[in-house]
Amino acid sequence: MKTDPHSYDLLALDEIIESYDYETDPVLQEQFRPVEDALWTLIEHYAEGVNDFGFEMAQHLQRTSNDGMHFLIDELGFSQKAGRNFYAANLFQDLGKIHPAYDPHIWNLPHRPTDEERAEKKKHVWRGVEMLEIALADASPELKLHPHVKTVIPAIQLFHHERCDGNGPFGITSDKIGQVIKTVCIVDTKDGDMIQRGHQNEIRDEPTALCRMKSLEAFDDKGKYAGAFDSMLDRYIAYRERISGQEILSNEDRV
Ligand SMILES: [Fe+2]
Ligand SMILES: [Fe+2]
Repeated sequence: MKTDPHSYDLLALDEIIESYDYETDPVLQEQFRPVEDALWTLIEHYAEGVNDFGFEMAQHLQRTSNDGMHFLIDELGFSQKAGRNFYAANLFQDLGKIHPAYDPHIWNLPHRPTDEERAEKKKHVWRGVEMLEIALADASPELKLHPHVKTVIPAIQLFHHERCDGNGPFGITSDKIGQVIKTVCIVDTKDGDMIQRGHQNEIRDEPTALCRMKSLEAFDDKGKYAGAFDSMLDRYIAYRERISGQEILSNEDRV
């Protein structure tokens, strides 16, 4: 990877994502669309004949893009164009999962992952950046330097598993994470928690996933999510309650 992950300013990202419009930007339209189409085809068809991970991942990426886009626009006050930029960039959030270094079976384990397997899976955050760099090897300097491909996509790829307590892959803490990354961390965790994995048989609904992310003892008894999110999660839950019309937290669980 050419860029040092610690050189990203994740607070400034909230302004950078407002600085262009994916929909109308001529450089992205003319030069990046073909690259995106090729990468998206790889995602959708990944591991075909082995398992349906590629297809499932494509759906996860579309759901989280949509969820994050609406939260950014409707609740956090980002512009429509910033929301569109987020949608498009987040589609490559987990691109690193289809990196050739992986055995596709790792994404569909019949057991709870071992520490070693977990560490291997975590590498997808920077392997995604590597794959994007390879896909852009012959691109023009103006595309390579465009904020969408130079900063917004790689930042989402690298930091969507950070935790506010600093226990994420790069140890970045809440005070250095802006709204865009906090949003992607929330929508990605929620969606991941609702996906049924090979080793578990229960399907979780959205309120259950959000209560687990709040680390309420009755839902997250192992403390998996304790410290992972800050008050942005409360804001997200209140937003989802408003949108869905159903109560997610009981009164004593509100802060
Ligand atoms: Fe991921
Ligand atoms: Fe993800």
